[in-house]
Amino acid sequence: MIYPIVKFGDPVLEKPSATITEFDDELRKLAEDMFESMYAAHGVGLAAPQIGIAKRIAVIDVTFKEDPDAKIVLVNPEIVHTEGKLSASEGCLSLPEFRENVTRPRKVTARAQDLTGKTIEVTGEELLARALVHETDHLNGKLYLQHISALKRDLIKRKIRKLIKQGEW
Ligand code: NI
Repeated sequence: MIYPIVKFGDPVLEKPSATITEFDDELRKLAEDMFESMYAAHGVGLAAPQIGIAKRIAVIDVTFKEDPDAKIVLVNPEIVHTEGKLSASEGCLSLPEFRENVTRPRKVTARAQDLTGKTIEVTGEELLARALVHETDHLNGKLYLQHISALKRDLIKRKIRKLIKQGEW
């Protein structure tokens, strides 16, 4: 099932999501639906609050379907190690049409659970490192807007307010 993507302005995006304790068929179905919704929206990462579900689960595929082994599901992730810094253009499905340069760690290790509840560690560099911190941020109610200057953030928010008024958001 493809869910519509929740856009900036919806409070679900700005509150911490709930820890997942049940590793059942429902969770596996949610992960499947999240991949489907992410691909439909042409994204490489998606967190559950972005489909209006305030639970700590995110999916990532930085290869966008090229490599089935690159599909990552993170349940209850936390960032346990970061190294270096890298500034690059970053977007978010909840902020369509906007992109900004965001400085993120160059290398990131996330500890999470898989769909069976087993603890896993995922280490990534560059785009995967960026996705790991971006999606984990979502589960903590944070968007990349919090990592750019107040000036740029206000400009984006002003443009969005205008789009909302015009019924285009
Ligand atoms: Ni995002």
